Amino acid sequence: MPATITAIAAYLPEKILSNSDLEKMVETSNEWIVTRTGIEERRMAHTDEFPSSMGAKAAQAALQKANLAATEVDAILCATMTPDYITPSTAAIIQNTLGATKACCLDIQAACSGFLYGLSIAKGWVESGMYRNVLVIAAEKNSAFVDYKDRNTCILFGDGSGACLVQSSGSGYEISHICLGADGSESHLISIPAGGSRQPTSSSTHDTGQHYMKMDGKEVFKHAVRRMEASAKECLDASGIAETDIAWLIPHQANIRIIEAISKRFSIPWERTLRTIHKYGNTSSATIPIALAELDELNAPQKGEHLLLTAFGAGLTWGSSLLTKV
Ligand code: UT7
Repeated sequence: MPATITAIAAYLPEKILSNSDLEKMVETSNEWIVTRTGIEERRMAHTDEFPSSMGAKAAQAALQKANLAATEVDAILCATMTPDYITPSTAAIIQNTLGATKACCLDIQAACSGFLYGLSIAKGWVESGMYRNVLVIAAEKNSAFVDYKDRNTCILFGDGSGACLVQSSGSGYEISHICLGADGSESHLISIPAGGSRQPTSSSTHDTGQHYMKMDGKEVFKHAVRRMEASAKECLDASGIAETDIAWLIPHQANIRIIEAISKRFSIPWERTLRTIHKYGNTSSATIPIALAELDELNAPQKGEHLLLTAFGAGLTWGSSLLTKV
């Protein structure tokens, strides 16, 4: 039996950073941002909010929906590229907040594809019988690593989290198939150069802004479309589902033009292509669970319908998953 997402929830910080706010910070315009990216506003975590606290809020909401006590959770996986610390893991901090005393904890560093990587580990653990209740969380405080003087990146990113509970059975979304991939030869295209052991933080890395996220947007754009398309196709082929059988597309939210390209490629109607980018921007690993949580709140997917999830991010990494509403 494929593992099933039995509950999903999201958390978004209250504070909004609008395009007009950004117009006052860098040389940009609402018109440029909307036409080139589709983003109108994004959320910003408060100074005392972190991936762990945002992740814990989404996880608490998911556990409440599933009516499961935190002490019943066997494992916590947290996808994040903006962890509270390099060590300890954000998952361990979340475990303490939840009171999930029985759970083992692991962070996943696969950037914007992290949620799908996490889902694949949860699927393996649950289907092998190793664990019964696995929380997969994606939580990002991108605002802590964005240079608000760099118009190439600061307009794109936002903060937020999503969390789901994966179990061996129940109603929700059966995880029918997952395909993952990576290409480390292009790792330079998106990076945070300083703060790791290769370039430890120093006054010089600080003065040159090496602790901020750097991205070659144009190149990344091309890879994003190509890789998500190929991985979605691979996932459909592997699961024996025809393109015409996809009821909902949930793509990573990096740019509305990338979303359009993927949606057109698989002939998914625009109203069945999930879009949250206009209000949250790019929340890295959290975009897919946030979008799925919003769709689930609407009770929109019908039993038997297939949902195609596809993601792409730094690494480079990518992945796609086919879910079936049960
Ligand atoms: O989640 C991880 C994956 N991330 C992605 O998939 C992001 C992929 N990349 C993108 O979404 C797009 O490449 C961007 C939104 C980052 C940039 O859009 P673009 O259409 O590729 O613009 P560009 O970088 O080619 O820049 C076009 C022009 C440049 O001016 P010149 O050189 O033509 O005079 C930029 O300097 O637009 C300029 N520009 C801006 N202008 C106003 C760049 N950023 C801005 C800005 N406001 N914020």
